[in-house]
Amino acid sequence: IDIISIFPEIFRDPLGASILGRAQQSGIVTIDCHDLRNWTDDRHRTVDGPPYGGGPGMVMRPEPWFRAVESLRASGQPGHAILLTPQGRRLTQELVSELTGFDRLILLCGRYEGVDERVREHLVDMEVSIGDYVVSGGEIPAMVVVEAIVRLLPGVLGSEASLLDESHQQGLLEYPHYTRPANFRGWQVPDVLLSGNHSDVKRWRSSKREIRTADRRPDLIQAYEDETLNS
Ligand code: ADE
Repeated sequence: IDIISIFPEIFRDPLGASILGRAQQSGIVTIDCHDLRNWTDDRHRTVDGPPYGGGPGMVMRPEPWFRAVESLRASGQPGHAILLTPQGRRLTQELVSELTGFDRLILLCGRYEGVDERVREHLVDMEVSIGDYVVSGGEIPAMVVVEAIVRLLPGVLGSEASLLDESHQQGLLEYPHYTRPANFRGWQVPDVLLSGNHSDVKRWRSSKREIRTADRRPDLIQAYEDETLNS
């Protein structure tokens, strides 16, 4: 994964810690952060300009983006270039899985009011949004994309089976979890979980997933029911 940004330092700590740090150390993924200003050609290392047609704010110029992506591509696989923007395709667990299929991703983190339209039209392969709200730049969204993808790569998480039970796998939210003590301040762990009866536990958990999803995310349960009826 290559990440291009004018604030590459944002990524250092989060990429180095925990699961992402370990995944890189064990060679499962390589993540390189690049400063977009390395691909400017003026003394001030300019990456933006005023919008043609007027209006507030600044727009990121196309040349540094094209040079950056083209030079990364010249040394390796072409990869799949993704611009992080609130106008992009909404990130879901399904899209995350899809993105694990590319051998290389190049993530472009925009700033200012936006990025020159020619970058969208002629350079990137896809635009991705992490949700219907706006943050100040593509850096945190890029971190979200990277973290969601890397944890799905084989060998990154200890027990791969646990992935299936997570929220948003199979279109449902997760069932409730409990650990010791069985009685905490008078709040009891449900009996079925202490019963040792695996098929009862399994049935209880899948019913909780459905109830919880119907309760909190009627939009998800609708899609899930349509899917189960059709299969
Ligand atoms: N940049 C600013 N807001 C964003 C969002 N919601 N998703 C992706 N990139 C963004």
